[in-house]
Amino acid sequence: MDAVQRAAGEAWAFRARVEREAASRFARLAAAIPAFDPASPVPALLRRAAADEDRHAALCAGLSASYGCPGGGGATDVRITPRSLGPRDAVLYEVVAACCITETESVATLATLLGEQAEPRVRTVLREIARDEVVHGRMGWAHLAREAAVRDVSFLAAWVPSMLAGTVEEGLFPAGEPGPDELLRHGVLPGPRKKEIFVRTLDEVVLPGLEKLGVSAAPARAWISQRIS
Ligand SMILES: [Fe+2]
Ligand SMILES: [Fe+2]
Repeated sequence: MDAVQRAAGEAWAFRARVEREAASRFARLAAAIPAFDPASPVPALLRRAAADEDRHAALCAGLSASYGCPGGGGATDVRITPRSLGPRDAVLYEVVAACCITETESVATLATLLGEQAEPRVRTVLREIARDEVVHGRMGWAHLAREAAVRDVSFLAAWVPSMLAGTVEEGLFPAGEPGPDELLRHGVLPGPRKKEIFVRTLDEVVLPGLEKLGVSAAPARAWISQRIS
């Protein structure tokens, strides 16, 4: 197996794991929201999204296996919230990190990959996932907007850097990632492109969206300039 095939297989196996984690997280968040917002339409969207993520995990695992990389690992549920937050704030933290940030970034990455010369079977998977992730991003913004309408959500501003570090960085700066343009055919962005898209999407979509709902972007911008430049 050559280095490109192996890198592609590992990247798709990593995505399969992230998709499975998202499925468990969305199911747990769907069960938590009605305790404080019984009229919210978001739990139904989260349950549908959990089913989407299971389907994405299978698609990603199928591609990674086709590159000779075993998918590995069952469903896991990783809580990413700081211990100091109460239950309602913890849900908000996780929804913002997982949907407003991660799903929005995912859409930008997938759109970029779809603009490249990916192989047909890779394109099919990228297109199917991209279609759903757009909806998953929106459900995060819907939850944040409902919360912002009834209470002060400005405390989130100080947590955005840890959301960025905890949920995105691991996939963004993997150790020793080979980055030839050849990987684009297999649906994998070379490191520098990935970083550039990540920062641009934060700058143009995620942070303005947070600011519009009362979450200052200043701590996040400080984190970015320190971390990226
Ligand atoms: Fe997904
Ligand atoms: Fe998603």
